Amino acid sequence: MFPVKENVMMKNGLEDVVAAETVLSDVDGEAGRLIIRGASLDDLAGSATFEDTALRLWDGFFEEPMSAATLKTALGRARAEVFAHIGAVDEAILSLPPVDALRALLARLPDGDDLRTAVRLAAATAVFLPALLRLQQNRLPIAPDATLSQAADTLRMLTGTTPSPAQIAALDAYLVTICDHGLNASTFTSRVVASTGAGLASSVLAALSALKGPLHGGAPGPVLDMLDEIGTESSAETWLRETLGRGERLMGFGHRIYKVRDPRADALKAALQRLAEEGTVTLSRVKLAEVVERVAVAILRERKPDRRLDVNVEFYTALLLDALGFPRESFTGVFALGRTVGWIAHAREQAMNGRLIRPRSVYVGPQPDQQRSLQRAV
Ligand code: COA
Repeated sequence: MFPVKENVMMKNGLEDVVAAETVLSDVDGEAGRLIIRGASLDDLAGSATFEDTALRLWDGFFEEPMSAATLKTALGRARAEVFAHIGAVDEAILSLPPVDALRALLARLPDGDDLRTAVRLAAATAVFLPALLRLQQNRLPIAPDATLSQAADTLRMLTGTTPSPAQIAALDAYLVTICDHGLNASTFTSRVVASTGAGLASSVLAALSALKGPLHGGAPGPVLDMLDEIGTESSAETWLRETLGRGERLMGFGHRIYKVRDPRADALKAALQRLAEEGTVTLSRVKLAEVVERVAVAILRERKPDRRLDVNVEFYTALLLDALGFPRESFTGVFALGRTVGWIAHAREQAMNGRLIRPRSVYVGPQPDQQRSLQRAV
């Protein structure tokens, strides 16, 4: 916090500013702990499904009653309905990067504040992204199977094959792990939009736009590029030192809130190891990632002894999504598949309990009298 004017303090990046009360998630950056509506992430990741998590986060925020079974049915039905939008995908949309194509298609959905709108948005991300990816690869999109779980159907629509139980569990673990995370930039965006009275589709669209930046949800693709460029364990140290020496940041490291290892990295690493046991990902790739993590953390500690820079969620996300068959340019879009339920819950919480979000700025430009004297001088 620093003074910008007499009696006016500003916090650049709003660091440590509390802007909402929430029952949805708690990020303990000192202890490296994440609570998702009363449950520890360690207990949820690996056991809960996407549907369980949507129910957990949305419970009490809609007038309509909900159970795990009704939500699964509603999501399946909504996936089948929104698939009709794929017929209207044109060349202009297909020429965009996947996350922008997803944004363009989501913008066509009607707005609203009810459960139906929420379910439609959550279903749409899961249907649109695989279909867009297939169309961009000149392959036919695959229609949803309303009887499947959201994770199973997403993988089936992506690859055209029946996913294994371990693959479904891995995607569920990923979607659960990233479903909500305090007042991150995209969630704050969702709440700002909801605070004006705009509907859920508007909140989700705005949040997705905030997510795509490389400092937020855009990092996992570059993480994979980094691992590919490093290639072997013995090259890790030189590559990392040279990159940092050029003043570049290491993608997948550092976090505004976590001062210790990001607990989501462990949840994803566990899911990855289960896939490795099944042979979906090679052990040597996981081992390379572990070496890069260890060396990078040591070098970052050496260079920034007073700032703890550890691995974050994006690092193992990259390996997990790659192993599940998602192309790296789509990773930010897959993040949105999980985070949409969190954005929706926050938007509803803000709309029901909050006020219009309207902070102040401090004017530091010239005053009209200064401007006039400047013009006279010229
Ligand atoms: N690699 C190298 N240096 C890093 C770094 C990284 N990944 N993350 C932070 N730093 C350094 C910065 O260069 C800065 O150094 P300086 O004070 O000498 O300029 C210092 O640590 C503080 O960085 P700052 O940008 O103020 O921290 P922040 O809290 O605003 O940033 C992130 C948090 C996530 C944006 C940042 O750590 C980052 O850019 N990480 C890489 C991108 C990434 O993985 N994003 C996904 C987040 S889940």
